[in-house]
Amino acid sequence: MCGIVGYIGHREAYPVVLNGLKRLEYRGYDSAGIAIYDGSNLKFSKTKGKVADLQLKMESEINTSGTIGIGHTRWATHGVPNDVNSHPHFSNSGELVIIHNGIIENYDPLKKELIKRGYTFKSDTDTEVLVNLIEDVQKKEGVKLGKAVQIALNQTIGAYAIAVFDKKKPDEIVVARLGSPLAIGVGENEFFIASDASPFLEFTKEAIYLEDGEMAVIRTHKEIKIRKIHDDSLVDPYVQELQMNLEQIEKGGYEHFMLKEIYEQPDAIRDTFRGRMLVNEGIIRMAGVDDNIDKFLNAKRIIIVACGTSWHAGLVAEYIFEELARVPVEVEYASEFRYRNPVIDKDDVVIAISQSGETADTMAAIKMAKEQGAFVFGVCNVVGSSISRETHAGAYTHAGPEIGVASTKAFTTQITVLTLMALQLAKRKGKISTSDFHKYLVELESIPNKVTLALKSNEHIEEVAAIYKNTKNCLYLGRGFNFPVALEGALKLKEISYIHAEGYPAAEMKHGPIALIDEEMPVVVIATKKGHYEKVVSNIQEIKSRSGKIIGIVTEGDVDVRDLADHVIEVPETIEFLTPLLTTIPLQLLSYHIAVMLGKNVDQPRNLAKSVTVE
Ligand code: M6R
Repeated sequence: MCGIVGYIGHREAYPVVLNGLKRLEYRGYDSAGIAIYDGSNLKFSKTKGKVADLQLKMESEINTSGTIGIGHTRWATHGVPNDVNSHPHFSNSGELVIIHNGIIENYDPLKKELIKRGYTFKSDTDTEVLVNLIEDVQKKEGVKLGKAVQIALNQTIGAYAIAVFDKKKPDEIVVARLGSPLAIGVGENEFFIASDASPFLEFTKEAIYLEDGEMAVIRTHKEIKIRKIHDDSLVDPYVQELQMNLEQIEKGGYEHFMLKEIYEQPDAIRDTFRGRMLVNEGIIRMAGVDDNIDKFLNAKRIIIVACGTSWHAGLVAEYIFEELARVPVEVEYASEFRYRNPVIDKDDVVIAISQSGETADTMAAIKMAKEQGAFVFGVCNVVGSSISRETHAGAYTHAGPEIGVASTKAFTTQITVLTLMALQLAKRKGKISTSDFHKYLVELESIPNKVTLALKSNEHIEEVAAIYKNTKNCLYLGRGFNFPVALEGALKLKEISYIHAEGYPAAEMKHGPIALIDEEMPVVVIATKKGHYEKVVSNIQEIKSRSGKIIGIVTEGDVDVRDLADHVIEVPETIEFLTPLLTTIPLQLLSYHIAVMLGKNVDQPRNLAKSVTVE
C-alpha cells in the first residue's frame, strides 16, 4: 500500500526522500511524488509510474535543493492512478503540503462542506480534502499547524499516516497515524519519517513508532512533541534501537528479492527456532506460550485468522495442531470473520498470523475477538508492528525483512513457529510421548539442511519452468498437510506471473476440476511418500489417462510417480507434518522462474501491495 517518506534537518532532503521511496517500492504502488522546500521555493513533481520515472522527471525539470521534503508512493484507492491524483497534495492557498497513506472514509461530506465554503479541488482524492480541511481549521480557528491537524483529524473517519508541512514554518513537520504505520527516525538535529524504518537505516538506528491515535510535531533543533489526537494528552516519546541492518534490505547479489528470500529460508527457519527449541534438553521455550499456557490448555478450540499466504500457513497449522495437540482448530479469512457474526467464546484462543503485522482485516478481526473476551495470540514477522502490539501475547517469526511482495520465507517461518506451538501444547497436554516429542525436535532441527538440499533442484526447476511458461492455466493438487501447500503454490504462480492457477485437495478433483484436464493443462501434484501416497498416485493416474501434464513433487528416490509423471522434482524425506516446509520450496522456485521468463515484475507484481492496510 502507499508509502510515505519525509525529512527535516540539515541535509539535502531530495536524495534522502528519493532513496527512501525506492526502499518502500516493495509495498506496492502505481504512482509517486516528491515535494522539496528550501524556505522560499517549493519544488515538486508527481507522476503515474515508478519512482525511477519520478526521478527522471524531477531531475530533468527541477532544482531539487532544500532541507525539508516529503515523498509518497501511491496505491490508488480514491481516484485512478494518474499524475494529478498522485501525492503530495496542496491546500488551496498552496501553503500546506501533505502526503497520506490510508483512507478518509467520510471525505465526501467533508468535501461538499468545503466546496460550499469556496474550496476547489484538482484531484479525486480524499487526501486533497484532508489538506484543505486542515487549512480551513487553521483559518477559522487561527491556530498553529499542529492544532489544526488535530482538530481536522478529529472530524475524520478512516485510517491514515500523514506528514504535512506549512511553507510559512519550514522548520516543522506534523505527522499523525491511525491504522497505518508511521516511524520517526531520530538523528542529530534531524528527523526522518517513513512507513517503516528501512528508508532511514543508514542515517540512524533510533526510531519512534507512533501508536494508533497519536500525532507528533517535529521541529529541527527541538524535541518531538507527541500527543493523543483524541484527548490532547502528552505522550513520552519511546525511542527504540533498530535491530535491522542495511544488508538485510538489499538484494545481496540476487537478481530479485524474491529469489534472495527463497534462498534465505534455511537460515530464516533456523533463526525462528533458535533459542526456542533446545533439542539436547528436550524442551521448547516460548515465552508468549509458556506465560499463557493455561489459556492454551483450557482452550476448547483455536481459531486462526489471517489473509493470503498467512491464511495458508494457518491451514497447515490446523492440521498440525489437530494431529499433535488434539485441539479443534478453525481457520478463518480475517476479512470474512470480521464481517459475519462469529461465535467466539471467552475460552477460545485466537491466533492471528501476519507477516507485516499491519493487515487491516486481520487487525479488525483481532479487535473483534478481544471485545468478545477471547485471548488473542499474534504470529508476526515485523517487530513492533501494529498486530504484534494489539495482541495479548505472541511469537515473532524472525524471518528478517521480507521485501518481495510474494511471501516465501514468511510462510515457512510461520509454519515453523506454529509447529513449535503445537508441539509445546501437545507435550503439556500429554498428547505425545517424551520420545516422540524428542524425535520431532530432532527432525525439525534438520529441516534447514533439508531445505538447502531442496534448493539444489533449482536448475532442474528452471528447465521445467521453460516448458510450461506459456501455459494459460495450472492446477495444484495436494492432500492432508500438503493441501494448503497446493493452495500456496497456486497463489504464488497467480500473483507473480498472472497465470490462472487453482489449488485443490487431490481427492476433490473428481468432483469437478477433472473436467478441465486435457493435454494443455499442467498439474502440479504434491506426492511425497508419507501421507496418502497411494491415493495421490491414483489421482495422478486419473490425470494421466486424460492426457494432463504432470509435475510431481516427490520424496527423494521415488519410483512410482517418476514412472507416471512428465517431470518429477525431489525433496528430502521428513516426517509427514513437516513436509510442507520442503514441498513449498520447488513451488516457490517454479513460480519465480516462470515469472522471470515472462518478463514480469517479480518483486512488485501489478496491483499488489506488500502490506494491505485498507479493507
Ligand atoms: O502481512 P500479512 O501476512 O498479513 O499479509 C497477508 C497477505 O496480504 C499476504 O500473505 C499476500 O497474500 C502475499 N502477497 C502472498 O504472497
